[in-house]
Amino acid sequence: MKKFKVTFYPDNRKIEVDQGENLLRAALAAEVHVNASCGGDGTCGKCRVVVDKGSVRAKGYAKLSSEEKKEGYVLACLCQIESDLEVRVPPESRLGRVPKERERAKVCGHIFPADATERLRLVRLDPPAKKIFLVLPPPTLDDSASDTQRISRGLRAAGFREERIEFDPPVLKYLANLVREAAFKVTATVLTDDTGLKVTKTEKGDTSGNHYAVAVDLGTTTVVARLVDLKNKETLSEKSDYNGQVSCGEDVISRIVFASKEGGLDKLQHLVIQTINRLLKGLIDETGADAKNISAVFVAGNTIMLHLLLGLSPKYIREEPYIPTVSVFRWIEARDLGIDLPDSAYVDPLPCVASYLGADVVAGIAATGVSRKKELALYIDIGTNGEIVLGGEDWLISCSCSAGPAFEGGGVKHGMRATAGAIEQVRIDAETCEPMILTIEGKKPVGICGSGLIDTLAELFLSRIIDRRGKFDLTLSTPRVRKGENGAEYVLVWGQESKTKKDIVLTEVDIDNLLRAKAAVFAGIDILLDSVAVSLKDIEEIYIAGAFGKYLEVEKAIAIGLLPDLPCEKFIFIGNGSLGGAHMVAVSREGKDEVKRVARRMTYLDLSMNPKFMDGYVSALFLPHTNAELFPSVMAQIANSK
Ligand code: FES
Repeated sequence: MKKFKVTFYPDNRKIEVDQGENLLRAALAAEVHVNASCGGDGTCGKCRVVVDKGSVRAKGYAKLSSEEKKEGYVLACLCQIESDLEVRVPPESRLGRVPKERERAKVCGHIFPADATERLRLVRLDPPAKKIFLVLPPPTLDDSASDTQRISRGLRAAGFREERIEFDPPVLKYLANLVREAAFKVTATVLTDDTGLKVTKTEKGDTSGNHYAVAVDLGTTTVVARLVDLKNKETLSEKSDYNGQVSCGEDVISRIVFASKEGGLDKLQHLVIQTINRLLKGLIDETGADAKNISAVFVAGNTIMLHLLLGLSPKYIREEPYIPTVSVFRWIEARDLGIDLPDSAYVDPLPCVASYLGADVVAGIAATGVSRKKELALYIDIGTNGEIVLGGEDWLISCSCSAGPAFEGGGVKHGMRATAGAIEQVRIDAETCEPMILTIEGKKPVGICGSGLIDTLAELFLSRIIDRRGKFDLTLSTPRVRKGENGAEYVLVWGQESKTKKDIVLTEVDIDNLLRAKAAVFAGIDILLDSVAVSLKDIEEIYIAGAFGKYLEVEKAIAIGLLPDLPCEKFIFIGNGSLGGAHMVAVSREGKDEVKRVARRMTYLDLSMNPKFMDGYVSALFLPHTNAELFPSVMAQIANSK
């Protein structure tokens, strides 16, 4: 991908971007304020800039006069960058001061390649499900071993050391004819685990070149499935869809409640299997892979999702002392669950640690190699539950805190999931209180998703529109801050510019919910550190997992006190760690052992039993925290903006 340099005047700010990058996004990344109130939909006409040098591809010029077009005016949100550029932001698009130089690096944290977390690259290709081509000596009067003994002998000769070798009954049914028709040249599909080796299928001739597994991240909201080539660890295709169970409740607690109703558990199991089957079909249709060559499905998910997948009651997970039915699973026949794969395919749910610390986190820890590192690392997966792990190669300690749905848009007046039209990035000019917003896919604004909520909260605070308690300064002379029906609020988008034709606002009640969510996560981090007597500065690396984490701006998350105030370079975004871990297990027995080892070694702290948690939570209910010394860079920014 070609890179281009864009210089914005009069700020003289430069940024390097990929060819085709949106000009408004480039301005935001360069911290150049350009008014933008329709989210990049091209309808407000406020993001006009002048391209003095270089070329852009403009999708449209709505709202610009022919005179302006001649002068080089474009709408930044509708332009893709096609060369090095010099761009002038005219006064009418700027409003207010030139932003002060910030001390922090712009691009905060680094990103693991999406499908190649560290350990996946390092583990040896040695899948737990294998196809082995065997050329067996035909039986004679001197060698009268049975067909199964002959295959077992062949497998041992191929290097399998498992004491116990068993054959699935359907394999036995046709084995005698099959091996003879194939002149004793057969491919055996085998699954291995602690208890031994199981032959799940035999085929005539050599079919070992076509063999696949599926890695699944079974999320409460979204399910992602990846078809993996077992010849070379590679991803052939990846598909995602909403978990069909969403219609029965948004979060794990409402699913548990639904499962306890008559027929509820069956319905939830059916819905998630339907989702998985839909994804499998998509993977197969796209790649042309033959379903009969898929031998195994490896599933990482939270403990409740895995219970619902298997049709196990999650009832006692919700009741003190919060006990799951199972935390370590065995191979399960795919057809028994209703998964549309051949009879020989099996499902392997990865191990969990506790009711609220599931295989998704275990898989992420194993995939990132946190469990093999000398350095002290913090792993955070933020969703409805914030799951936090602290440790390294010698020990791992974890907790889960209920952040509530605020970061996923729940309990927030105009909160929404991260879909088209969701406001995902926000800047607010401190002098004029005018916002610069970007929406997903540049569509007309509909609401605010998690990353947009964090941005808005941080910007309101850094611009002193709200105070440390999250209360609005109603003395400001701007129509954007006003008293609404739910108390004081900030208008991010006026009705005439929103898709819904209604003002999009963030209210004080929303802010309270966000403060509670961030306080729960920060208090969880605090408790883990306290329990092993280490301090924030001892942490060498911070891994941010989950789909939400991918879009999080670390500086903003620090500004509101959600993440600890540590240097940017310590933050690492891993994308979907759960899927990465399931992929690693699919291609490597070493990876599978690592996941089991992580689950065994991880100590779980139940915060509901921890008296210090409430104190930490209350202290974290302020922006960024009651103890300002914990957030020196945020306090410095505030002081500079005075
Ligand atoms: S026209 Fe570009 S942000 Fe509205």
